[in-house]
Amino acid sequence: MRAATIREGEILIEEHPDPVAGSEEVVVQVHAAALNGADMMQRRGLYPAPAGSPQDIPGMEFAGEVIALGAGALRFGVGDRVMGIVGGGAQAELVVAHERVLMAVPEGLDWQAAGGLPEVFTTAHDALFTQAELRPGERLLVHGGAGGVGTAAIQLARAAGASVTASVRNEALREQVGALGASVIAPEGFAEHGPFDVILELVGAPNMAENLQALDTGGRIAVIGVGGGAKSEINLLALMGKRARIHGSTLRARPLEEKALVARRVEREVLPLFEAGELRVPVAETFPLDQAAAAYARFAAGGKLGKIVIVL
Ligand SMILES: NC(=O)c1ccc[n+]([C@@H]2O[C@H](COP(=O)([O-])OP(=O)(O)OC[C@H]3O[C@@H](n4cnc5c(N)ncnc54)[C@H](OP(=O)(O)O)[C@@H]3O)[C@@H](O)[C@H]2O)c1
Repeated sequence: MRAATIREGEILIEEHPDPVAGSEEVVVQVHAAALNGADMMQRRGLYPAPAGSPQDIPGMEFAGEVIALGAGALRFGVGDRVMGIVGGGAQAELVVAHERVLMAVPEGLDWQAAGGLPEVFTTAHDALFTQAELRPGERLLVHGGAGGVGTAAIQLARAAGASVTASVRNEALREQVGALGASVIAPEGFAEHGPFDVILELVGAPNMAENLQALDTGGRIAVIGVGGGAKSEINLLALMGKRARIHGSTLRARPLEEKALVARRVEREVLPLFEAGELRVPVAETFPLDQAAAAYARFAAGGKLGKIVIVL
């Protein structure tokens, strides 16, 4: 099979042996695989794939068609449309995944949207509802609102009855982010728009001190992205005084059991909203596999709404 391949910090297209399904795994013919910040870091040698995943083929989320079943794989049949998250290896013609991390593609969702759904909607749902325990009527602030996770989080929170504010630095995208259901603000001076019950931090350290000011008593901060920096100084007295919580998380390093539970929650609580037409995956641009390097350059350039997707 052909696959995007990391060679000395560059993305090339190379031939690899076809992957084979192990016990309870399936082989999927990939139709779409989206890019994520983690791929950018992996390409630079800063974020190796977990053990058991291909180290040189990037790609953590995909959608495609089941073409072969490993021993004991029962959840799907050959020809089923599936999507999911893997530790790596998705930006390829074929990928192997454990059947428990796969989800059926909702009726009516096209390949490019399905290929850009799993990582960001799972991350946003897990951070907002499982970790930060966002409730209907609460006020949410999403930093980095125009990106993949941000656009997912805004829609999920709105659908759950929260009121959503999003900070977006690219002025040209503010109207489109607003159309997803958020009041959109510039990042500068965001605390003036508070207080907030929950803050989803997708940018990182530069916001943390002001996040504490912007938080209401009992507020929660979910730290999910640190592209803007990882180290910051915060006032612990303010954290105590507000009886606030700061929570951090990653998905990639979790054991299979936890990944499967998270996927079941997304199946129950998110996919029906796609079927009802209440959610969408904003796709900024698609690239064929042959132009994977250009897809990486586009992602790295920023200033996009939603996802960059490789289509096969
Ligand atoms: N912990 C996890 O499990 C997990 C899972 C998925 C993603 N992540 C991380 O979460 C972050 C968001 O993911 P994503 O897929 O949404 O990425 P994305 O599509 O690249 O979106 C990031 C957004 O943040 C904005 N942004 C970046 N740096 C900024 C800064 N210094 N000031 C203001 N805005 C800034 C970007 O604006 P521009 O377009 O203008 O640059 C973009 O709109 C990434 O760091 C990613 O690695 C973590």
